[in-house]
Amino acid sequence: MDWGMKNRLSKIINPKDGHTVMLAVDHGYFMGPTTGLENIKTTTEPLIRYADTLMLTRGALRNYIDPSAKIPIVLRVSSGTSIVGKDLLHEGTAVSIEEAIRLNVAGVAYSILVGAPFERDTILGISKYINEAENFGIPVLAVTAVGKDMAKDERYLSLASRMAAELGAHIVKTYFCKDFEKVIETCPVPVVIAGGKKQPEEEALKMAYDALQAGAIGVDMGRNVFQSTDPVGMIRAVNAIVHRKFSPKEAYDLFKSNKN
Ligand code: R5P
Repeated sequence: MDWGMKNRLSKIINPKDGHTVMLAVDHGYFMGPTTGLENIKTTTEPLIRYADTLMLTRGALRNYIDPSAKIPIVLRVSSGTSIVGKDLLHEGTAVSIEEAIRLNVAGVAYSILVGAPFERDTILGISKYINEAENFGIPVLAVTAVGKDMAKDERYLSLASRMAAELGAHIVKTYFCKDFEKVIETCPVPVVIAGGKKQPEEEALKMAYDALQAGAIGVDMGRNVFQSTDPVGMIRAVNAIVHRKFSPKEAYDLFKSNKN
């Protein structure tokens, strides 16, 4: 692995502990003005200090993020379908590697949908993108998205995560599940979990803790942070689990105390 790739990875994954809090605010690329992300600038400004990296689209980056902001960017580079269209997550390359470099990103994110009728498109899409990204030392985060008809169980998530790693992804993003340590054991690259739909804060914090205990290096969390009753309190609590070894109870206490 060359210096540039290692340097960028160290901006995404904190080299002090090997963990990361990724704040995902890329939902608009297929969901439009998602609740909590009506204005990404005002949503993210108070949260960025507790995140290691911000994951978003190029349009959001250009329109909502100050170029002087001290936050490494993971740029979503795949898209192609919307929440109201057919074949959700039938994605291909939407943003070139040259554009990613021009935007000075630390990494890029690309979704694959293993098991969907169109899986071949997404698998070849990410493979080609990894070929290009590696020419420039840019890490690729594979988002192992789960379609409506796919089970979010250990068997499926192990399959999708291992495939992503074997295709060359440098980090894999997947969902937490029962027996999650089996997903980790068979995936040779670092794994982060998505938050998924908004849940009560206590449960989301427990999920983050359990994922870390099972071997995930962190979270790439969106709705459970920016749709929280207290987004700053929530990301502080998530950060404490990921980087300060807080228990779920300690983190929830921190969340509750934040408003005071
Ligand atoms: C989905 O493909 C998007 O990349 C989201 O950023 C991702 O699902 C993480 O967000 P959330 O924690 O809201 O699920």
